[in-house]
Amino acid sequence: MALIELRDVRRVYDLGEVQVHALRTVSLEIQRGEYIALVGPSGSGKSTLMNTLGCLDRPTHGSYLLDGQEIVSMNRDQRARIRNKQLGFVFQNFNLLNRTSALENVELPLMYGPRLSARQRHDRAREVLDQVGLGDRYHHHPSQLSGGQQQRVAIARALVNRPSILMGDEPTGNLDSQTSREVIALFRELNETQKITVILVTHDPNIARNSKRTIVLRDGQVVADTTDFAKAKAALDAEAGE
Ligand SMILES: Nc1ncnc2c1ncn2[C@@H]1O[C@H](COP(=O)(O)OP(=O)(O)OP(=O)(O)O)[C@@H](O)[C@H]1O
Ligand SMILES: [Mg+2]
Repeated sequence: MALIELRDVRRVYDLGEVQVHALRTVSLEIQRGEYIALVGPSGSGKSTLMNTLGCLDRPTHGSYLLDGQEIVSMNRDQRARIRNKQLGFVFQNFNLLNRTSALENVELPLMYGPRLSARQRHDRAREVLDQVGLGDRYHHHPSQLSGGQQQRVAIARALVNRPSILMGDEPTGNLDSQTSREVIALFRELNETQKITVILVTHDPNIARNSKRTIVLRDGQVVADTTDFAKAKAALDAEAGE
């Protein structure tokens, strides 16, 4: 069984006067352990698709099976539970709490899952911070960390509940190219050593080149879905040349 199965998914934003078709009949399957880059021009529906996959948003039509469970018929609470258990998110602007330490930021999602003692939470948070290479930064606040280190804290926070999928919307968008490469290497390592499924929305060609599969969106539709980066790039460039 596929980890993710979208069937004829559409997302229409009804603005009264106009309807925006952000996704038009997207069907795709994602298997456990894949590493996917989601690319396309601005407004093509990448964030809408990511928010759908991440159970933050619901399609207006179609079916979304995540691990065999139909997400479309779930209410907000049910989707929140699935998110906390199965999905880890990282964002372009890191979304860390500024007045708390790296350790406390990473511990936060553990408050909402199965009950753990304070000691168990500390141990688990230290374990993931060590894993992302921040074993010497537990007590630093975000403002005392570099952008790349802040994104590592965010990745640690995303991993703390052992999700099966790690998702990011432009996770390297605020990082310089060297730091981006380090963060990309970390995603790759997590995918390879821990078999975490990675799905990243990106404009960064380095991410797309590093992924194992690239999905290209245009006007809310998948126009290329390929393991050959050159093909994905051709589809994107054809778009840019129009
Ligand atoms: N809440 C909303 N209400 C109405 N229209 C929306 C809403 N969110 C997105 N849209 C529209 O849906 C389309 C897809 O938007 P989306 O944010 O998914 O694009 P994107 O590919 O992520 O773009 P970018 O690269 O600029 O982030 C756009 O036309 C956008 O204007
Ligand atoms: Mg977007």
